[in-house]
Amino acid sequence: MAPLLDAAEQLDRGALQELQLERLRATLQHAYAQVPHYRQAFDKAGVHPDDCRSLADLSRFPFTVKGDLRDNYPFGMFAVPREQVRRIHASSGTTGLPTVVGYTDRDLDVWADMVARSIRAAGGRPGQIVHVAYGYGLFTGGLGAHYGAERLGCTVVPASGGMTARQVQLIRDFRPEVIMVTPSYMLTLLDEFERQGVDPRSTSLRVGIFGAEPWTEQMRAEIEERFAIDAVDIYGLSEVMGPGVAQECVETKDGLHIWEDHFFPEVVDPITGEILPDGEQGELVFTSLSKEAMPVIRYRTRDLTRLLPGTARVFRRMEKVTGRSDDMVIVRGVNLFPTQIEEIVLRTPGVAPHFQLRLTREGRMDSLTVRAEARPGATPEERAEAAHRITAAVKDGAGVTAAVEIVDPETLERSVGKIRRIVDERQ
Ligand code: DLL
Repeated sequence: MAPLLDAAEQLDRGALQELQLERLRATLQHAYAQVPHYRQAFDKAGVHPDDCRSLADLSRFPFTVKGDLRDNYPFGMFAVPREQVRRIHASSGTTGLPTVVGYTDRDLDVWADMVARSIRAAGGRPGQIVHVAYGYGLFTGGLGAHYGAERLGCTVVPASGGMTARQVQLIRDFRPEVIMVTPSYMLTLLDEFERQGVDPRSTSLRVGIFGAEPWTEQMRAEIEERFAIDAVDIYGLSEVMGPGVAQECVETKDGLHIWEDHFFPEVVDPITGEILPDGEQGELVFTSLSKEAMPVIRYRTRDLTRLLPGTARVFRRMEKVTGRSDDMVIVRGVNLFPTQIEEIVLRTPGVAPHFQLRLTREGRMDSLTVRAEARPGATPEERAEAAHRITAAVKDGAGVTAAVEIVDPETLERSVGKIRRIVDERQ
């Protein structure tokens, strides 16, 4: 399929960098002039927007962290009068106040363009039907996907999350080519297709655009095989915009192209904050290049990845996110991400792609139990063999000793949006 490219996707690297510098300088000026937080932070660091003469000069500016957004709750990070903020989204923090973000008319326009570009990169085309099963509401997933699909010229089905039986009915009746949903909820839909006696490979779906949570190559293989679709990754976060910050191209499926004409990425050492060269793994940091309502300067995402050169597009890629530093569990001194367990569970025969990590404390020692669900019809011998294999793979691959429980089919909690992999029962 020949990719159709918009004007910015056809720039060469030199022209792109010129555009980035021009936008970066304007963004720094805008943030400094309009947001007291940025003025104070820049002054404290002894830098002024005029000091930014090259893209490399960005490194002289201070980072922004989630706590800065909380400290300025609800509207203190806005850089335009509130009347010009056309929409608010918020992400519910696990603790305390939500993180509030705002968009002007032009911000919403850019967002729709970026999601339209993302759907196109995923293989979606104008005229197709797009089923959106990301949650609608304060979460950016539903509305973000929705306006992007409309912008591309698709017919949008705003299903939102939940009511799984009805989702399957809608997909059977409306025959969408594209679905946008979290990968974990796609698995919930898969079970429901099977429950209704419909072969998931027989549906009209051809493209799945999956994001909002980490997922592995093993999960891609599982979903593509069981649904007969192309499964591609979409990344974003509300503080930076929402879905459509970066998108994997269907023709290469080799990581996500960052839409660098609007978002400038850096990868830094999560501990020291030192900038790492492209190719090295660290924490992803974004500076917005065109946002009006809520510019972000060097925002620390806590997502771990590496920057790679462009392939299907001129823009640099980010490797699939392996996890966020917040999701990392430390078991007896060893760092572990749920994606490492996902890789293992998905390649183990006899178990379904559903698992959970349970953390408990015995005395002063933390213990990890991997709970994985048996495939329907798995024999007791197959279940025992699966437990054995997972135990060994977790020990060899991750260096962690874990207990493994193979639980009955359909017993683990199913996702309706972002799945919770870790059940922390430590005090
Ligand atoms: O999850 C935006 C989004 C919606 C992206 C729909 C893609 C699709 P937040 O709720 O602010 O925004 O959560 C952002 O989710 O920092 C990552 O930790 C995680 N995340 C998002 N996309 C991916 C992905 C939306 N493709 C946080 N792979 C981010 C891994 C992802 N993690």
